[in-house]
Amino acid sequence: MFEARLTMATTSADNGLPRETAGGPPSAGRDGGDGGGEWSWFAPGEGERSAARSSRPDPDPGSGPTPAPAPVTGRRPESGSEPDFPANPGYGKLDPSHDVALIRRTLDEIEPISQAVTSYFYALLFVRHPELRALFPAAMDAQRDRLFRALLTAARLIDDSRVLVEYLSHLGRGHRKYGTRPEHYPAVGECLIDALTRYAVNSWDEQTEAAWVRAYTAISQVMIDAAAEDERHAPAWWHAEVVSHEMRTSDIAVITVRPDHPYPFRAGQYASVETPWWPKVWRNYSLACAPRPDGLLVFHVKAVPAGWVSTALVHRARPGDVLRLGSPAGTMTVNHSSDNGLLCLGGSTGIAPIKALVEDVVGHGRARPVEVFYGARSDQDLYDLESLRELELRHRWLTVRPVVEGPADGLVGRLPDAVRQCGPWHSYDGYLSGPPGMIRSGVEALVGSGIPAHRIRHDSLDGQAAARG
Ligand SMILES: Cc1cc2nc3c(=O)[nH]c(=O)nc-3n(C[C@H](O)[C@H](O)[C@H](O)COP(=O)(O)OP(=O)(O)OC[C@H]3O[C@@H](n4cnc5c(N)ncnc54)[C@H](O)[C@@H]3O)c2cc1C
Ligand code: HEM
Repeated sequence: MFEARLTMATTSADNGLPRETAGGPPSAGRDGGDGGGEWSWFAPGEGERSAARSSRPDPDPGSGPTPAPAPVTGRRPESGSEPDFPANPGYGKLDPSHDVALIRRTLDEIEPISQAVTSYFYALLFVRHPELRALFPAAMDAQRDRLFRALLTAARLIDDSRVLVEYLSHLGRGHRKYGTRPEHYPAVGECLIDALTRYAVNSWDEQTEAAWVRAYTAISQVMIDAAAEDERHAPAWWHAEVVSHEMRTSDIAVITVRPDHPYPFRAGQYASVETPWWPKVWRNYSLACAPRPDGLLVFHVKAVPAGWVSTALVHRARPGDVLRLGSPAGTMTVNHSSDNGLLCLGGSTGIAPIKALVEDVVGHGRARPVEVFYGARSDQDLYDLESLRELELRHRWLTVRPVVEGPADGLVGRLPDAVRQCGPWHSYDGYLSGPPGMIRSGVEALVGSGIPAHRIRHDSLDGQAAARG
């Protein structure tokens, strides 16, 4: 079983705000926890796990006896500082290169059957720990394999400790909005190990299992520590009331919301959003403005066919409705220490964070050349061109070029081709937002036009990124 010593900040308010910020009775923990300060837990069933277990979990966890939780061990260092990953000896006998090779072998084996492994994993989790079911959305059809994909990402990043810790810390902070608590991690880890034991038949052995236990423990600890740190100063989520809802096309709405607490974001970032109609279903939407004195936030949302959250936001949400927002995320922010120009590509609603970047440059009051290429299928889909044109009239350093696929007044064709044609762009930094395909071909075009990869920033291509319309 996992063994860990954890330091937790305390949570008292409905939205996980620290006590002093949130107010309210000090003992009212959101999860009914004990509300203690520093605390530790030792999960039951300590001791090394035997790889040659006599009874494996039933393949249909719903029909047979619930398998005994698998013991998984790991120990975190005593220090509360941000850990190195994975070399910190405090995490146990971690041999990064050897462990990583074993873990990658398992991942290679299960990748083609990840759907089956994922289904089995969740079935085990919910049979053994029915209380955890409430943390997940009612329908779990979409993107169920994100946990595995995250593990794949972690395995891929394992040689780059800084980026890996950054990625996992972000993931850990993001898990606060789900109501995830440190004590949930061993439950997930046991079920993960059991699912792998069952499906990775060719690569699984005692050594591989030990490597997974060490890696999962280390990954979890980074996530838990980041969440605990975040809990000291930020709520787990914000409530945000819709104050205006404007249809710009038949399927795109511009939605302005007022958060119940100041929302600490930077221009170019995105927020995860939950609507009252689909509880626990979160989707990312870019902030379409720089931070404003009135604290309001703006989103541009395109309803995708049969899309749960986007359709609700576009066709159902009205002023007065209250959404929930997770903490801001994303690295597509302006580097204000540079004199380089900004070359910005926004496809469809990808223009939202680009507009925020332009406002950010305006706010900093330093004239830097900003070139915006705004891509859409047709002229009618350029739903925000007018307001960008207004900004262009007011600021001589800003140029806005619409690019559409069909016949039009401006540039015609694909966004990356148009950018290439107008280059080279050696003295610019690149910023891209839009559908993943556009980002990939856009990055290629920018690199080909003289912008080195390290000066290009864009939305995450991870997770649900496959879905920006
Ligand atoms: C970093 C980031 C920022 C984003 N910012 C924005 C933003 O500012 N504005 C915005 O509108 N969206 C944005 N998105 C996309 C958004 O997060 C959702 O993925 C999108 O709104 C669809 O969610 P849904 O719940 O409506 O659809 P789902 O219920 O997730 O999908 C329903 C079905 O529609 C399919 N589908 C999903 N997307 C599309 C599509 N584009 N075209 C056709 N079919 C599709 C799915 O494959 C699925 O079959 C962003 C995504 C990321 C990763
Ligand atoms: C190493 C441990 C874990 C990893 C790598 C991991 C990874 C992920 C990832 C990548 C997502 C997709 C959405 C996002 O990026 O936030 C996700 C969603 C989620 N995770 Fe985890 N997770 C871990 C542990 C846990 C634990 C312990 C719980 C608590 C039970 C949990 C509960 C959830 C929930 C409720 C969701 C939302 C599901 C949904 O939207 O369908 N996770 N997790």
